[in-house]
Amino acid sequence: MKKTALLSADSSASDTNDPLGSKDFLLFFRNAIINPRSVGALIPASHALSAKMAEICNSLKPSALVELGPGTGVITEKIRHLDPTLVEIDEKFSKRLRKKFPELEVFNECAVAFLENLDQPAGVICSIPLINNPAAKRIKAAIAKSRSAGHLEWVAIYSYGKTNPLNGCGFNNEHLVAKIPFNFPPARIWLNS
Ligand SMILES: C[S@@+](CC[C@H](N)C(=O)[O-])C[C@H]1O[C@@H](n2cnc3c(N)ncnc32)[C@H](O)[C@@H]1O
Repeated sequence: MKKTALLSADSSASDTNDPLGSKDFLLFFRNAIINPRSVGALIPASHALSAKMAEICNSLKPSALVELGPGTGVITEKIRHLDPTLVEIDEKFSKRLRKKFPELEVFNECAVAFLENLDQPAGVICSIPLINNPAAKRIKAAIAKSRSAGHLEWVAIYSYGKTNPLNGCGFNNEHLVAKIPFNFPPARIWLNS
């Protein structure tokens, strides 16, 4: 999909302008208030949730890795060594991601547009909440289409509801990988392959 990452597995996104991450936290909170249906949570994913998502990516070794809806990049920090392509609809988040992860490719666009143009196999992390998201139906349809075209090796998605948001998208295997109580709201991670 693009250049090979040169970073080691334990590299982290240290930002000398924001060592405590408070700038990111405020940006996230502000965007959540302005655009609640699109952002879908009040605060970023917890360490426990991010670490579990990274564990999945490390073990599944996709041909290429895509993260949909990275926000301020809390999960990205833990998977940047895998050279993910980032797809984020919000302009301010995208700007922030480019600053924090200059080595990664950031698409400031809707996941639907990205998936429609995807033409090679990839594993996908989806952080976009599909319960209230205005594009939820179109995102699910784009995932189903991309899956049937053979471009999606797997999709790991987290959700605040009890059911797999990608049920019915054409995956052969759907399973609950983890329940993450230490997240706000508590989340479940589903792996679709
Ligand atoms: C719950 S936040 C997750 C952010 C990040 N994983 C975290 O926990 O900090 C959802 C993110 O999905 C993005 N998003 C929502 N709809 C999108 C779409 N159609 N295409 C791409 N990104 C989208 C939002 O802007 C937001 O950054």
